[in-house]
Amino acid sequence: MCGIIGYAGCRPAVPVVIEGLHRLEYRGYDSAGVAFAQNKYLRVIRAKGKLSALEEKLATEQITTATCAMGHTRWATHGVPAERNAHPHSSNDGALAIVHNGIIENFQELKTELTAKGHVFHSETDTEVLVNLIAECRKREPDLLYAFAAALRLAHGAYAVCLMERGAPDTFYAARMSAPLIFGIGAGENFAASDIPAFLPYTRKVIFLDDGDIVQASAKNYRILRLENLQPAAHEPQKILWDMQAAQKNGYRHFMLKEIFEQPRVIADAMAGRVSPQGDAVLLPELDDLPVPARLHIVACGTSWHAALWGRHLLESWAHIPVQTEIASEFRYRDNLPLGKGDMALVISQSGETADTLAALRMAKKQGAAAIGLCNVIGSSIAREASTVLYTQAGPEISVASTKAMCSQMLMLALMALYWQAKQDRPTDAARRKGWLDILASLPAMLEEALPAMHETARRLSRKYAQARNFFYLGRGHCFALALEGALKLKELSYIHAEGYAAGEMKHGPIALIDPAFPTFAVALDDPLFPKTKSNIEEVQARQGKVIALTNEGTGLSADDVWTVPHLPPPLAGFMVLPALQLFSYEMADYLGKDVDQPRNLAKSVTVE
Ligand code: F6R
Repeated sequence: MCGIIGYAGCRPAVPVVIEGLHRLEYRGYDSAGVAFAQNKYLRVIRAKGKLSALEEKLATEQITTATCAMGHTRWATHGVPAERNAHPHSSNDGALAIVHNGIIENFQELKTELTAKGHVFHSETDTEVLVNLIAECRKREPDLLYAFAAALRLAHGAYAVCLMERGAPDTFYAARMSAPLIFGIGAGENFAASDIPAFLPYTRKVIFLDDGDIVQASAKNYRILRLENLQPAAHEPQKILWDMQAAQKNGYRHFMLKEIFEQPRVIADAMAGRVSPQGDAVLLPELDDLPVPARLHIVACGTSWHAALWGRHLLESWAHIPVQTEIASEFRYRDNLPLGKGDMALVISQSGETADTLAALRMAKKQGAAAIGLCNVIGSSIAREASTVLYTQAGPEISVASTKAMCSQMLMLALMALYWQAKQDRPTDAARRKGWLDILASLPAMLEEALPAMHETARRLSRKYAQARNFFYLGRGHCFALALEGALKLKELSYIHAEGYAAGEMKHGPIALIDPAFPTFAVALDDPLFPKTKSNIEEVQARQGKVIALTNEGTGLSADDVWTVPHLPPPLAGFMVLPALQLFSYEMADYLGKDVDQPRNLAKSVTVE
């Protein structure tokens, strides 16, 4: 939800900032802007639309070689996408400029007070209020860092901000509260950004800032203080081990396609070091200090919630743990959270920054429950606040629509189920456990082999079905979770209306919609539920509904399009279904000319409610 970057160093700063914004554009792309010092002024250049619009504008401007600058790419919260609402925002006197990711909740009250003091506002944003608040505090405070801190203490809400002042053209300031911000320490240059790829070409040495940290940085110096007492914050810089290649397209047409094709490696990476050398035990030291949950509440949003629904089947059937899965935005507002003695929460979030999921984690902890985090982004808020964290190790996911992250979450849920199964020491489970682990170990090679044919089928079918305006996705058991994911992927990428349903639920109403123009994508694998799903498919066909059936060789299923994927026992068969669904949506969207990596109205990291 918005990407910010600040830079102070020895290079021309605007190109560094623009390059960083390109790697942050997945966080928002309604408008973009930069600020830098030029001829004793703080210049602010902004443009509505994607970063390319800003670049076009910059190409027509005379830009000096400022060595300090900051930039922003926006996902609108307060105020429509328009240049006046784009960041950076300036104080009325033009002395300060700010970029902001987050929401200042009391901005309306602050605005009223500032208006009474003579401040004038040109945008609808909370950010313009914040920068004028800092300007107001600056009148009484000779040190900008202290004025900045004084203003932040008055502002309630979530923010990651960078600030520059006309009088100090080589310095940027930054602060973090409930929104991601990472400080990068280079040789003779320093950075702050919403995500590491923004500055990774220049440095791997980072500090994951904490909520309440406030920073002053120039090319050669920096200081990080605590907002509450302005004392130095204790931080050990960390080294980032992955490289930029992980955040580049590597010859693929889109990040999404690359990330789908990365899934065999993602599975292998997620398993690395987590299975005993004999291949018969799961090693999750992160969970060793916790008992087996009496009941597990898995809380997540969107695709991560679909992974939770899928994982529930394994946790229940393999680990004998009763599981409740909840959408985080609902869970956090329940009157009486159903957390009993011995219950635990498991929050799943690729970004580790999703506001509702973070709030759910805090609620669970407040109720005294252990809250396990399952995250992809190292050092993210959820990772840091969880009682213990398991990293999915999927590498940076750049495409806004989540693909490989879900695959890695599913893999980790399978490992957790086997880990807790072993902890219960039921003799009959041990032999089966080895069998499951063998299948998991064989997954990367199987999937690697299957993906090219899957891609081809997805491409062929997309040409046939691209004109549909509606789609049903059906499945039973663990495939119901995948049907929901298939529908979400189709709607978010291609803007075709799609609904995921439990196959057995169709006849309770939705089937009324079926006609020859309303196709169904049914997941009907060769498993014990197959005969039931087959009947539901026949019910659709009896109403002239067209059907794509994703199934296995030998089921004898009859449909308009029968798409077979390699057989795996349920629920691990999900690892073959997921990429097929992803590729179908990808091809549909690409064929329809949609912006696959940056679908309209979306952003990668949803740090607002
Ligand atoms: C869909 C998608 C979203 C996210 C959701 C949760 O493709 O990416 O539905 O899954 O916003 O995000 P995380 O996992 O970061 O909490």
